Amino acid sequence: MKKLLFLILLIGVMFLQSCTKENTDDHIDDPMESDEVLFVQSELDRMSLSEKVGQMLQAERASITPEEVKTYNIGSILSGGGSHPFAFDDSPDDWADMVSQFQQAALASSSGIPLLYGVDAVHGHNNVYGATIFPHNINLGMAGDAELIRRIGEATAKEVKSTGIHWNFSPAVSVAQDIRWGRTYESFGEDPMIHDRLVGAFIEGLQTHDVIATAKHFIADGGTMNGTDQGDVLQSKAMIRAIHLPPYVKAIEAGVGSIMISFSSINGLKMHGNSYWITDVLKEELGFDGIVLSDWNATFQLPGDFRTQLSTAINAGIDMLMLPTDWKSAHEEIITAVNTGMIDDERIDDAVGRIILIKMRNGLYDNPFDRLDPSTNFGTLEHQLLAREAASKSFVLLKDQDVFPLSKGDDIYITGPGSDHVGVLSGGWTTYWQGNTNAEIGTGSSIKDALVNRLTSSPGTVVDTISGAEIVIVVMNEVPYAEGFGDTSDPSIFGGLSDPANQAAYNEAVAAKALGKTVIGVLSSGRPLILGDVLESFDAFVAIFLPGSEGGEALVDNLYGDAPFRGTLSFSWPASLDYFTLGPSEATILFPLGYGLKVDDE
Ligand code: BGC
Repeated sequence: MKKLLFLILLIGVMFLQSCTKENTDDHIDDPMESDEVLFVQSELDRMSLSEKVGQMLQAERASITPEEVKTYNIGSILSGGGSHPFAFDDSPDDWADMVSQFQQAALASSSGIPLLYGVDAVHGHNNVYGATIFPHNINLGMAGDAELIRRIGEATAKEVKSTGIHWNFSPAVSVAQDIRWGRTYESFGEDPMIHDRLVGAFIEGLQTHDVIATAKHFIADGGTMNGTDQGDVLQSKAMIRAIHLPPYVKAIEAGVGSIMISFSSINGLKMHGNSYWITDVLKEELGFDGIVLSDWNATFQLPGDFRTQLSTAINAGIDMLMLPTDWKSAHEEIITAVNTGMIDDERIDDAVGRIILIKMRNGLYDNPFDRLDPSTNFGTLEHQLLAREAASKSFVLLKDQDVFPLSKGDDIYITGPGSDHVGVLSGGWTTYWQGNTNAEIGTGSSIKDALVNRLTSSPGTVVDTISGAEIVIVVMNEVPYAEGFGDTSDPSIFGGLSDPANQAAYNEAVAAKALGKTVIGVLSSGRPLILGDVLESFDAFVAIFLPGSEGGEALVDNLYGDAPFRGTLSFSWPASLDYFTLGPSEATILFPLGYGLKVDDE
């Protein structure tokens, strides 16, 4: 009887999903889909409760052995930000060998179900040394180009698959409403319309080569009070539906395989316990039939003891639990919770059914060791050129007093903390969770190196004094950060997370201006920063955000007119901190949404 109910439920979910897809013709009658239902049911029929619960757990690679994967029938393993198999510079082969060992163990388990290995490849395969580091989402929002983002998605999928990995915890589809949030740069922009154009294309690209994408963090992670990471959203359902839900509708239409739940709360209720949004809206109303994944240890933020926390999360509709270190006790507690009636068998079957469905759809059953050849798919010239094109298209020209294009006849002095530093251009989630603070990150070039290169056989050159130059370029920046470490109440060019060396660099700009030099300001940051009267000292000013490993070459392309400036702001640029207390107005906004000069505008 229970099986029949589950079958009816699964068919119902598939039907609802078909209704959310535009132009879907034969979706409901597709024989493939009834095959899927039968396959999932036959898998569930042969599994014990212990095997099913194992499938619902995701452990961190450093906290589980292949032997334990086998014993507990573990469904998934992840590498958290910066969690490498051995060392930061492991090769794609090292990664693939590790994944393969875990996979062999999963196949040797009593259920024999292949496992999913997941990583955060949020701007390229950023944990892996030598991977192409694409611009962060904030840049992709500024570029606003659906075809471009689709190509970046596919390139990322290729890099991920060349390490044997199947699951990507990307893209963040957060509609960030407050730039004081440390995850602003993971967002395409403040306006859901920007997401509308980009989310579907990105997911379709990211899900090529049987890689599974993850829309995150459901829902309203970008809507917390004061932009506090993991904070509380004090908004009505109607507001949340208007601002934060649309990207998920697009993601589901594009067939996204998984959705990660947000650490944040809505009106005091933690999202991980929110059955209205997870079950009623996401699964039933929108017909999402993939895996709902919890965030890192987020279950522990729910009230009650561990068993209660797990039951609350699972009953709210979470299918897989990201419990990096506590997966083993969770295994025991969930079994007890089912045996004592805290969680129904149907809920377990729905969760495990979805996990099996996604594994099957993505070829895990047919070819669990599937991998692309890294020599033609990882860190390739083609991907680097794509990252460079994307970076170049994302730069926003804020001020230009007839400065561009530069002439290769002019001598240039370049200074500032971000001028010779690829780690800064790449930002958080690069090599390590909080970003790579080294000037060299194993790929790409700094702005200075790119400039020196470009001027190799030109009359102009890079010089080391202001007085010897016609043009002075000053690159200021925020330091790399991720998640709550990036929260600040003072997002300004000399405050908050800004590089302490910005002040000295700015002083050089002022000195250069006094000497009558042409002075160009460049700002690399995870969000717009309050500029005070800084712009007055510059003849031109460019916001490059976090353009990644090819950002240096890309900027030089734009400086010399080899590529046009064409980025437009996907976030309003605040004029002062008043913006946060008084709200948006002509007085509090320096540059509005959509602003961005073109060189031939003047
Ligand atoms: C982040 C997620 C990420 C997860 C795994 C969490 O702290 O919120 O975005 O996918 O870690 O690294």
